[in-house]
Amino acid sequence: MGSYNIYLRIILSLFLLLITFLPEAVHGSKKCYIVYLGAHSHGPTPTSLDMEAATYSHYDLLSSVMGSHEKAEKAMIYSYNKHINGFAAMLEEEEAAQIAKKQNVVSVFLSKEHKLQTTRSWDFLGLRRNAKNTAWQKGRYGENTIIANIDTGVWPESKSFRDTGYGPIPSKWRGGNACQLDRVPTSAKNLCNRKLIGARFFSEVFEATNGKVNPKERTARDLQGHGTHTLSTAGGNFVPGAHVFAVGNGTAKGGSPRARVVAYKVCWSRTDENSCHDGDILRAIDQAISDGVDIINLSVGGRQGVTAQDVFTDGVSLGTFHAISNNILCVASAGNDGPDPGTVINGAPWIFTIGASTIDRDFTSTLTYSDGRKIIGGSLSVTLPPDQAFDFILATDGKLANATINDAKLCRPGTLDPAKVKGKVVNCVREGNIKSVAESLEAKYAGAMGMALENQRKQGKTISDEAHMVPSVGYHPGPPSPRPDPNSRPPKPPHHHSMQNSYYDVITAAAPPSPSLTVKLSPAKTVIGRKPAPVMASYSSRGPNKIQPSILKPDVIAPGVNILAAYSLGTSPSTLLQDTRRFEFNVLQGTSMSSPHVSGIAGLLKTLHPTWSPAAIKSAIMTTATTRDNTNRPIQDAFDNDLANSFDYGSGHVQPDLAIEPGLVYDLHLIDYLNFLCASGYNQQLISTLNFNRTFLCKGTHNVNDLNYPSITLPHLGLDQVTVSRTLTNVGPPGTYNVTAKLDGSKVTVVPNSLTFTKLYEKKTFKVIVQASSVIQRYKYQFGELVWSDGKHRVRSPITVRRR
Ligand SMILES: *[C@@H]1O[C@H](CO)[C@@H](O)[C@H](O)[C@H]1NC(C)=O
Ligand SMILES: *[C@@H]1O[C@H](CO)[C@@H](O)[C@H](O)[C@H]1NC(C)=O
Ligand SMILES: *[C@@H]1O[C@H](CO)[C@@H](O)[C@H](O)[C@H]1NC(C)=O
Ligand SMILES: *[C@@H]1O[C@H](CO)[C@@H](O)[C@H](O)[C@H]1NC(C)=O
Ligand SMILES: *[C@@H]1O[C@H](CO)[C@@H](O)[C@H](O)[C@H]1NC(C)=O
Repeated sequence: MGSYNIYLRIILSLFLLLITFLPEAVHGSKKCYIVYLGAHSHGPTPTSLDMEAATYSHYDLLSSVMGSHEKAEKAMIYSYNKHINGFAAMLEEEEAAQIAKKQNVVSVFLSKEHKLQTTRSWDFLGLRRNAKNTAWQKGRYGENTIIANIDTGVWPESKSFRDTGYGPIPSKWRGGNACQLDRVPTSAKNLCNRKLIGARFFSEVFEATNGKVNPKERTARDLQGHGTHTLSTAGGNFVPGAHVFAVGNGTAKGGSPRARVVAYKVCWSRTDENSCHDGDILRAIDQAISDGVDIINLSVGGRQGVTAQDVFTDGVSLGTFHAISNNILCVASAGNDGPDPGTVINGAPWIFTIGASTIDRDFTSTLTYSDGRKIIGGSLSVTLPPDQAFDFILATDGKLANATINDAKLCRPGTLDPAKVKGKVVNCVREGNIKSVAESLEAKYAGAMGMALENQRKQGKTISDEAHMVPSVGYHPGPPSPRPDPNSRPPKPPHHHSMQNSYYDVITAAAPPSPSLTVKLSPAKTVIGRKPAPVMASYSSRGPNKIQPSILKPDVIAPGVNILAAYSLGTSPSTLLQDTRRFEFNVLQGTSMSSPHVSGIAGLLKTLHPTWSPAAIKSAIMTTATTRDNTNRPIQDAFDNDLANSFDYGSGHVQPDLAIEPGLVYDLHLIDYLNFLCASGYNQQLISTLNFNRTFLCKGTHNVNDLNYPSITLPHLGLDQVTVSRTLTNVGPPGTYNVTAKLDGSKVTVVPNSLTFTKLYEKKTFKVIVQASSVIQRYKYQFGELVWSDGKHRVRSPITVRRR
């Protein structure tokens, strides 16, 4: 058994969460709770009778506490009767507490609210249309894989989802023709087709807690752009002529361009924000499992600031557990709260967690000051006349008398004084890591001709280009800053190579701008072939993984900066209500953009290897990822120009052409995850509920370290040696693999150090023995790697250890 306090804490938190959540609820007012009962004993293919019986039992349980069937009926929001066993209901705090005490109830928790956090990117990943021997060609462009997105819905008219040339819908699709896209259902022409094979929305919990959605908007149609963008990145057709303001003009492509796609809308807009509720997400996942999808790309994670989620009291980790039990891969984002350590979300081992990095394309524009200095920054907007000079003003000098310096600096609404700013280029400081169009809107309202958008320290050198309301350029103002908390971060080795001529030197060649200057702004142009790339996006959330420290997160990184893809005509490119522009394509930022790249790649693998488990597909993508950039040097971090490490990029940057033929995989099945939960200290009875309510015996011989994960993490290493075991499955030709292992400050021995595979799917187990040296500093993470190679394939796992 794992001897870790943290796991004991998890068990405790199982109960404490119930207690800590309850007082949050306002006394006397009902809130939406999820009552979770495990997996249905009716197994993976329920009949309608099974589902009715399940729903009946949910009403029974609810009535037994509420006193009458009528009251239960009023309170019930959803009965999850397909795969996930449980229900969502509006309850008083005391009622929730009573239900929690009932037999067979695994957990009761408040339905939490989550927030939502291309053209060039596939070329950068080595995928070129019609090129031979690429993952695209071998993976038949993802044909017949069904990719689902749980997000803001879809814009069905987008060319990315046309079905010209598609054969019949694969028979594994069990979702029928549910296509909830028409505003007036009866007038309806079917907006789904052989490409976009389904669209549904789930809004009951959102509506019960936030008020009714406008009836016209009760549809899976995407009115926020996010879902269309991500779904087209994962599985959109090739669409030529995609651009924003003529910038980035090229062919928009999905990672699995021939995949079938399905949209489940669970995120609803509330003023300028998206709100996605656990209860609606669980309902969507239950439906997606039932519909027979292959891959779920989930656009939501924990709320900002909440990074540690318990398995049984978090909708996302619960829902994805059920998905993987049904052989569906779940891909989700790492979060956009970097660069602080410990910010990664979606930390469960059954989720494929993706961080964000740059590609080698930029949209750049030069800001030239009258004193001769130049800043080359990022831009994606209409341009100023290039030869005309404009007065330059700092937002703080152009503020209204009633605005605070800090609000004005960030160009918050109502802070700029038109009398001072009108006709000038105003310098604002970027507030949001990934969204800041509101600032150029304020500049526009104040009559500014243009905006220079200066990154804050924490945003490092990641320049996020957005469709601003006035001609704009984003830039990084100066030298890199120190780490936010050096003690909780692993030290990074100094990098030895010169940064000269790199992208960042050019882009940051400026002292802070001074007032009383004039400036000129050149039109944005597309630059391809940037070096180095990829670079870690400063906002990509980082490890260590707080809830399950023995699992390294994020798992990999993929393109997430300045990604061009299809967009919704139902909203503006900024999603601001005041913005009346409508774009067919848009450039967006974030780990939300990187995770569909991985869904797309997974779709290719699924098409080529239909029998592989989700874990095998994930392993293939992880063990073939690279930690080097396009200059063949270690990947850097845009936050501080330093070298990135496993807490930033996990196994590294995805390489689809290698992932498609990984040689060996680390496979995992339901039983392995259940053993992992045993070793994590969950009680056997709870775990049995996840096992389709079949008794599961925790044997007491499993250690969390032994989960057959494609990375190795030992956060509590003593001075005694620790042995970790892993099993490899051969998915390539017969061959002999030799191992190399290295780890800073520790001795690593692998037994045996050579493995010979003679047939397909043959399995071989090996042990990794780690002996920390007494000289390594305590509580500091050390990094290393384990690589198996037959001379052709390279199967790499990062190793991360910390001495306690
Ligand atoms: C985009 O490129 C295509 C093909 O090169 C060209 O026909 C089209 O005019 C371009 N569009 C813009 C807006 O530059
Ligand atoms: C995929 O997941 C990411 C991150 O969780 C999300 O933001 C994005 O919207 C999803 N994309 C699709 C295709 O659902
Ligand atoms: C300052 O006052 C103006 C009206 O004079 C108002 O429009 C604006 O919202 C105010 N700004 C702040 C930050 O209160
Ligand atoms: C699970 O099994 C137990 C014992 O067999 C039974 O009492 C309980 O009702 C079952 N729960 C579900 C959700 O089927
Ligand atoms: C593995 O090691 C053996 C023994 O040292 C050596 O003969 C063989 O060439 C190695 N194979 C590879 C692929 O490196």
